[in-house]
Amino acid sequence: MSTSGLEGVVVAQTKLSAINGAEGELIYGGYEIDDLARHTTFEEVCYLLWNGELPNQAQLDGLRAQLAAEQDAAPELIEMLRAYPRTADPMAGLRTIVSALGMFDPNADDNTEPELRRKAILLTAKMPTLTAAFERIRNGKEPVAPRAGLSMAANFLYMLNGEEADEIRVRTMDAALILHAEHGMNASTFAARVTAGTLSDVYSAIVSAIGTLKGPSHGGANVEVMNMLRDIAQSGTEPEAWVDHALESGRRVMGFGHRVYKATDPRAKVLRDLADQIVPAEGGEGGRGGRYWLDLSDRIRSHMQARMEAAGKKIYPNVDFFSASVYTTLGIPEDLFTAVFAMARTPGWTAHLFEQYAKNRLIRPEAEYTGPRGLTVKPVGER
Ligand code: ACO
Repeated sequence: MSTSGLEGVVVAQTKLSAINGAEGELIYGGYEIDDLARHTTFEEVCYLLWNGELPNQAQLDGLRAQLAAEQDAAPELIEMLRAYPRTADPMAGLRTIVSALGMFDPNADDNTEPELRRKAILLTAKMPTLTAAFERIRNGKEPVAPRAGLSMAANFLYMLNGEEADEIRVRTMDAALILHAEHGMNASTFAARVTAGTLSDVYSAIVSAIGTLKGPSHGGANVEVMNMLRDIAQSGTEPEAWVDHALESGRRVMGFGHRVYKATDPRAKVLRDLADQIVPAEGGEGGRGGRYWLDLSDRIRSHMQARMEAAGKKIYPNVDFFSASVYTTLGIPEDLFTAVFAMARTPGWTAHLFEQYAKNRLIRPEAEYTGPRGLTVKPVGER
């Protein structure tokens, strides 16, 4: 029997996270996502995913020091980023530079536990630096080196914009990183585990994950959400009419629907709350008020809710829906959104790799053959 899209198929046991799709609940290692997003930092969540418990102060300080020690990008890597075409897609850029990181690691193929941990820290620490450097180089600016003493979230905004962000922006960035850090057997995590299942190396597994996250049905949806918001704004169409037209043309409205959640994605709720704090009442892009994108998102959400309820479909906003307006307000360019998702998901991906290598079995499902049988080969001239 085949299961389309492997829906409902359990392929591993994990202690990392659990999703209750019917109720819209998500826990990491026993803690509600809402609690973690509001009361911890990304570094604490990294520790939780890699160690199964939240750190005490000394453990947290230790992890921060390890991350800080790995944050710099080698000059060779920066030179590679400079050699990219200016038009390179950021996810293609990230996929390539992570692959290169593996070539510079003499122990890339060592999958013992201490080496897995070292690489998890290295990748989590370097990906924000490389993502920010990519963004600056393609805009003709010099990369900004990480600043000692800043958190991962603060450092990313600092390296991206060249100046330190205020506390509420850092807090929002931190929460967004936490919300994206882990999510069960999603497509990119599965891809990482399939690669590790062949006993290939961590870098190859993360490259597989990045390539999988890139797609618009997965991490790429946040870029599509912002494209949709801009399309509505530029066309001057009422958002309700835009949604009606999209649905009537058989198109999907990006940022809605989820394979597992049949209620609002809890991550979308936290992001929506945070958006209220960072979105300024005045200012904003192109003369539009600071709340413009958020108000537009709210109108789309209300109308989609009404349309989906009327159609009897359990389609609700997912994490990508509000991350688009939040990231835009944080000054992150829209085609970088998925790369930000990737750097946030790295602790989750690597934690899954710890589990996969510790109890590995090659992941090798089957396909049901539906083609012909019993044919015999004729010489090529007779076919
Ligand atoms: N807009 C409109 N209708 C939708 C949407 C949507 N975004 N998503 C699903 N539907 C409809 C489908 O058309 C289908 O209707 P039908 O039964 O009349 O044919 C029904 O809801 C069920 O859809 P499926 O295709 O079975 O859902 P599936 O679980 O395969 O897909 C997915 C999930 C890919 C996320 C889908 O909802 C989608 O394409 N959403 C838009 C892209 C998106 O936001 N992706 C991000 C997901 S979250 C993440 O990866 C971080």
